[in-house]
Amino acid sequence: MTIVNKEFPKDFLWGSSISAYQAEGAVLEDGKLLSVADLSTRKEGCCDNSISSDFYHHYKEDIQMLKEMGAKAFRFSLSWPRILPDGEHVNPAGIQFYHKVLDELEQSGIEPIATLYHYDLPLALHMRYGGWKSRKTILAFQIFTKRCFQEFGTRIKKFLTINEPDILFMYGGHGLDLDGTEEFKRNKLIMNHHFALAHAQAVQLCHEMIPNAMIGPVFGYVPVYPKTSNPRDVMAAKDLCDVQNTFFQELFLNGRYMERIVMQYEKDGIALPDIREGDMELLKNSKSDFVALNYYKSDTAAYCTPDTPPADFCRPGYYQVCINESLQRTAWGWDIDPIGIRYMLRDVYDRYHLPLIIAENGMAAYEEVKENRIDDTYRIEYLSRHLIQCRQAIQEGVELIGYCNWSFLDLLSTGHGFEKRYGLVYIDQNNESSGSLKRIAKQSYYWYQNLIRCNGGNL
Ligand code: BG6
Repeated sequence: MTIVNKEFPKDFLWGSSISAYQAEGAVLEDGKLLSVADLSTRKEGCCDNSISSDFYHHYKEDIQMLKEMGAKAFRFSLSWPRILPDGEHVNPAGIQFYHKVLDELEQSGIEPIATLYHYDLPLALHMRYGGWKSRKTILAFQIFTKRCFQEFGTRIKKFLTINEPDILFMYGGHGLDLDGTEEFKRNKLIMNHHFALAHAQAVQLCHEMIPNAMIGPVFGYVPVYPKTSNPRDVMAAKDLCDVQNTFFQELFLNGRYMERIVMQYEKDGIALPDIREGDMELLKNSKSDFVALNYYKSDTAAYCTPDTPPADFCRPGYYQVCINESLQRTAWGWDIDPIGIRYMLRDVYDRYHLPLIIAENGMAAYEEVKENRIDDTYRIEYLSRHLIQCRQAIQEGVELIGYCNWSFLDLLSTGHGFEKRYGLVYIDQNNESSGSLKRIAKQSYYWYQNLIRCNGGNL
């Protein structure tokens, strides 16, 4: 067998990402109602999410900047509470908004990649059914996805179902539910099962309604390395990796519960998923066309003695997360690990043999404008080191069809509002919500423009 020295494929989807609740603003405009995510970001000391990056009013300007950057793809999310504000009745203005976004993308020759659920469960459904704890929310999601496929199916050919069910499960709370953490922890397997069913129904519906479209899940994969070569640490890393990655991939992609892990949760007092007749068949028979992966960092784990007090990311007798001395970290303590992205791509490709797309990858920083410039050389370094590893994964045989950095615009981070910036485009906005919303291309925007122009050839 000959190893082909492949570069990025000619039709590689160079793209950039945002999500609705983090970028659109206009939380209560033109018929939109609140989502649970809108409430969880409405925190003291955080930017007013009814403004955020104001993509809702700036979409033309923003897509023009995407076009000038040379983007081939744009990953955004369709806001459920904008399209079906009360979870039942269609809001024509919401549908219209996304048609206008799609018009701009079409005119710019940019392929839309649309996420169906990026944490924004309509608050009305949370109040009515208790959110994802109830099977009624699965049905409500089916009504929403059907409407999206009917409306946008001729225009969008790549759909992503649910953003990071794994991260929601591990880190908890928002996007899943508004209840306190204890209540959330007790019910998380139930909610995750409902997520998986909602995903599976969306896959089947998409295949029936738009046979020429592709649909798949989005995982937030965090590779786990052992702290040392001591077999106890190696096993600890495997345990954590199975719990935070493989468990979800097996469920969403193979329709299989890893029983060992379910038993662990049962021992911890977590309610078992309510698996009804037909559920596992549905999960098994809904075959994704591709897999989207979000990658930011890796974790490192060591064995943890049984007498250690339990804590987040520490399971006594199994693993605890620890510092990786060989890696540097972002200002928020996330390990910077470019090789981890290749590790992830190879691992997922080897196990599922599906085309892959990076739906998020990026580095946050505190940033200021100096003389009308943002010199984010650290971001250029971060992105290029990760892309070099993506290229190597392609050379090693992984079918990687695209890469979208997170994020195109500065937007609300999940926990730190506007002080944690990821964008290629700076937005004059802050946690006091007093910014002018002016857009300024950062140096990373120009770097990416150049890279796209030569199809990654200058890496
Ligand atoms: C991903 C999410 O987990 O990470 C995004 O899909 C999020 O919505 C991103 O913004 C970065 O996380 P954070 O917490 O820094 O905003």
